[in-house]
Amino acid sequence: MEKLVVTGPTSLKGDVLIGGAKNAAVAILPATLLIDGECTIENLPNISDIKISCEILEKLGAKITWIDKNTIKIDTRHITTTKAPLDLTSKFRASYYIIGAMLSRMGEIEVGMPGGCKLGARPIDQHIKGFELLGAEVTVEKGTIYAKSKELVGCPVYMDIVSVGATINVMLSAVLAKGTTIIDNAAKEPHIVDVANFLNTMGADIRGAGTDVIKINGVEKLHGNATYSVVPDQIEAGTFMLAAVATQGNVTLKNCITKHLESITAKIIEIGGNVEDNGDSIRVWCDKRPRKANIKTLPYPGFPTDLQPQMGIVLSLADGTSIINESIWESRFQYTEELNKMGAKITAQGKTAVFEGVENLYGAPVYSSDLRAGAALVIAGTVAHGTTEIFNLEHIDRGYENIEEKFRKIGANIQRIKE
Ligand code: UD1
Repeated sequence: MEKLVVTGPTSLKGDVLIGGAKNAAVAILPATLLIDGECTIENLPNISDIKISCEILEKLGAKITWIDKNTIKIDTRHITTTKAPLDLTSKFRASYYIIGAMLSRMGEIEVGMPGGCKLGARPIDQHIKGFELLGAEVTVEKGTIYAKSKELVGCPVYMDIVSVGATINVMLSAVLAKGTTIIDNAAKEPHIVDVANFLNTMGADIRGAGTDVIKINGVEKLHGNATYSVVPDQIEAGTFMLAAVATQGNVTLKNCITKHLESITAKIIEIGGNVEDNGDSIRVWCDKRPRKANIKTLPYPGFPTDLQPQMGIVLSLADGTSIINESIWESRFQYTEELNKMGAKITAQGKTAVFEGVENLYGAPVYSSDLRAGAALVIAGTVAHGTTEIFNLEHIDRGYENIEEKFRKIGANIQRIKE
């Protein structure tokens, strides 16, 4: 078992290089199944979700060569099975992208229900609705999804709910379909645009990604022989921006797209922090206790749910009482119990939490309940007085490359210890 041991308080100062976006990369990898050829993908985050995605693709027949720790060459010419390995697909959420991609490529797939962070109910009815509208038959039996189609035909798909996963999955199933698919009420996250850009680079015809109407004109095939670099990770950048504010530090994030960070920037300024936008880098600093604020998580361009726990640390230390309303996931406040062990005063009920700001947090043993909660606890450990031990690191390692090295580089006293 491994744990992170953080001793604080530390004011974080220095530069952090932001990696490729996990949520784009976990969709781009299955999207390579649509290509009857070879391509190179750069700026992949070196995290466990990516390693497992690559293992799944290899089990389906793809050949993967690691060029360096963030670049692969992938050859998807020979897909040899339509059964995805259940033990691997159950390990993370984005394994559902195998369905859209394999329906397009092979017309058939058998895959286990996706795993991932336990954030409350995570239905996939909108994915299934989209596949069925395009002509697939989908059944779910004893935790396994069976999907098949003789021919996928483009059509209008109205999403009843704004869903990142369903938008990308329907896009994957529509790229090689006959005719035009129009996704209405689509999600607009930067990773959706990135997946569309990747597919278009390979010969797809997708327009409107980043707006709520996406039009996909089906093409006969996608060519390989191209190199694509994954977009910088909005959530990793936001995590370090909020770490800078929580620790009253001064941190510059290199290799980020500042436009993707506008909702976070606006909130940081509202609570008294400072943000300097330099185009492909952003400097965040804070020299006083942050002010209270109210937050409601929303689909992009609203405040992202994946930064809600990190913002929770900042508000638990703010001057005054703040309220967070979580509108996407029903169980995203599990981290508040851990923060209360460290001296925070948070009352969470359902989708609302009230943060009565305290002046200091104190080190304690804490357990990461999910990926972003884990990142938030690393920030909490850095700002807290004394030593914090963080357990359940497998969640953090699913989504952050070398989290402790990046925090250490900007001054945190943090070690990974094997027990
Ligand atoms: C993705 C992100 C996750 C992020 C979330 C919201 C990936 C791999 N994960 O998850 O980190 O927290 O977006 O920004 O990109 N819903 C349905 N039916 C569906 C699909 C979704 O009711 O078929 C609901 C969900 O329960 C949730 C909301 O829609 O309440 C948004 O979910 P969705 O955007 O689909 O999240 P994910 O794609 O799973």
